[in-house]
Amino acid sequence: MKARRPGARKRRTDEIDAAAEALRSAGVGEPRIAVVLGSGLSTFADGVGDPLVVPYSEIPGMTDTGVSGHRGAVMVGDVGGKRAVVFSGRVHHYEGRPPPDVTFAVRLAALLGVRELVVTNASGGIDPGFDVGDLMLIRDQISLVSGPRRLPGGTVRMGAAYSDGLVGLAREKAAELRIPLREGVYLGQIGPTYETPAEIVLARSIGASAVGMSTVSEVQEAVRAGLEVLGVALITNVPLPGRFEVTTHKEVLEAGREGGTTLLSLVSGVAQAL
Ligand code: HPA
Repeated sequence: MKARRPGARKRRTDEIDAAAEALRSAGVGEPRIAVVLGSGLSTFADGVGDPLVVPYSEIPGMTDTGVSGHRGAVMVGDVGGKRAVVFSGRVHHYEGRPPPDVTFAVRLAALLGVRELVVTNASGGIDPGFDVGDLMLIRDQISLVSGPRRLPGGTVRMGAAYSDGLVGLAREKAAELRIPLREGVYLGQIGPTYETPAEIVLARSIGASAVGMSTVSEVQEAVRAGLEVLGVALITNVPLPGRFEVTTHKEVLEAGREGGTTLLSLVSGVAQAL
């Protein structure tokens, strides 16, 4: 293997320590869960109880996201009676960002002592039973994020990345709250292009139920860090052949506004049961 640039790894570790320290000084306390919000899901953040808001720009090493529909701040507060760190805005590979930036929030959450990570995203539903506005529990993932890259923590043995225990709790809470819940496999590609019809056929043929441009690298890092992961995708469009329309970012954001509120009820219910 090629030698690493001297000091590169050390600098990253220093950055993450400095970021954790900044949040501790701001009063983060001892959070139990972390939530990463996908595009347009910031209505979730509006419902966080009694929040402490720290803009990404005030956290050393944290990259702000240039994508609209992401707030670019950490909200720390109450979600279902548990102290939660909510990352309202994530960094994507399609912004030209390498894995250490894309996984920064997850590594920060782990360093703060978080035990459960909830990843959320906006995605295209490619299971014919899906409709716009559905929430899909992510049971497993396929990463098509390709190209030269190095995960900050090295090789990860993925195994069952998404927690069966948290899936069980989410199913129970959804039934209790009468939130219809789909389940399936999330395929993450690098973006920023939405799929062609042929790519959708390919994704479907390899077992995907929803496609998006995030989440998979974060979950790889979460598994490395030993976090329990719950994943929920909001279906913002259904780009199936026959139902195929060109997907726009605006459409994704519109579907996100309502979805964020339902998602908060579901995640609060799960947090309460922990
Ligand atoms: N494809 C990829 N990413 C997405 C989609 C999609 O159809 N919808 C929202 N994010």
